[in-house]
Amino acid sequence: MINFDFHKYMSKYVKKEDKVTYLDKAREIKERFISGDLSYWNKLDTFVSKKELIKIINITDYIRDNCDVFVVIGIGGSYMGSKAIIEALSPMYNRNGPEIIFLGTDLCAEEYYETFEYIKDKRVIVNVISKSGTTLEPSIAFSLIMDVMGEKYSEEELKNRIIVTTDAEKGKLREVATEKEYVTFTVPSNVGGRFSVFTPVGLLPISVAGINIAKLLEGAMASFERVDRAIEYAVIRDILYHKNKYIESFTVYNSKLYYFTEWLKQLFAETQGKNKLGILPISTVNTRDLHSLGQFFQEGNDILFETVISIDKDKKIVLNDYDMELNSLNKIAVDKVGLAHFNGHTPSGFITIDEKNEHTMGELVHFFILSSIVGALLLNVNPFDQPGVEDYKKLINDELR
Ligand code: PA5
Repeated sequence: MINFDFHKYMSKYVKKEDKVTYLDKAREIKERFISGDLSYWNKLDTFVSKKELIKIINITDYIRDNCDVFVVIGIGGSYMGSKAIIEALSPMYNRNGPEIIFLGTDLCAEEYYETFEYIKDKRVIVNVISKSGTTLEPSIAFSLIMDVMGEKYSEEELKNRIIVTTDAEKGKLREVATEKEYVTFTVPSNVGGRFSVFTPVGLLPISVAGINIAKLLEGAMASFERVDRAIEYAVIRDILYHKNKYIESFTVYNSKLYYFTEWLKQLFAETQGKNKLGILPISTVNTRDLHSLGQFFQEGNDILFETVISIDKDKKIVLNDYDMELNSLNKIAVDKVGLAHFNGHTPSGFITIDEKNEHTMGELVHFFILSSIVGALLLNVNPFDQPGVEDYKKLINDELR
């Protein structure tokens, strides 16, 4: 379950009358999600077919039994969602199952060198993920790792060790997979990378990590009905934006949600940052960052607001000196930091899940996906493209010709 409080430390900035001006627009957007052109966002089979879901579940056991390292190659939306869920829900130490290594997120030779040294004597399975099949970084990573895999395994064995997740028909990766007879999964054509956590892009690595994807999807479905809240959050962000709050911090008080905030940054930046519009998303892990960014939030340039994502229940650690649990102290911090920032000039909205598990993470992911799309519609920008990302790719590719 998710609880929302967009009032307590927000009231000075977002008033009831501000929201009234959005009523017609909100109604129209809701209609589109409930029965119009956007209703596919609230259907599970948009993200994954039953057949592919069963295939993911079946192949998970094979992967977990047959490799020490599962290398996931992908960039942006092709890895951030799975990384976010895996880090949020896995133990910090002594994880069971294969180690999951993400590759193809940069062009750092040192990282590749050290990774290949590390995996050379281990049993490896690779999942290369690219919707377009042409993105530079994963293409480079795939080509490099194939040299390593080619040394270790026969062509025949590679058919069991290379898994390709890409468009159903188009792109270089699809061609390679067909030619070499690799196992494949499909990225649905109407779901962009940053929205693809519930497609095989996210589901396969998450499942290999030992996380229950059925429960994750149940959580997503539970939030299909939550369009109203997603619209409300988007409206509040838009009101703040028009009051010159140009930066939003996604603030967490559980360090295992750090990659979730990385995913949020990508989701909102690529969905809304267009036509010289949009809020710049940043992230804060508290209470650590109170000793760095916190100063700015309290007294710096007046352009910020916070969306605090917190968790009600946590493990029991007792602080004998204060006769309370550590989690109670963390909750005091959530509230008092919110108050301090509010008393400064930084408003906060609060999104709280009762506990961190597959279901609530699924709910959260889908809530933010919907809200990011609504926010783009309020800004009158296309939620589903990312033309700016293409510019750097073109400049590099021109140089490579
Ligand atoms: O959200 C997006 O669409 C992007 O971040 C893409 O996921 C990213 O650019 C990678 O693209 P591709 O999966 O085509 O390699």
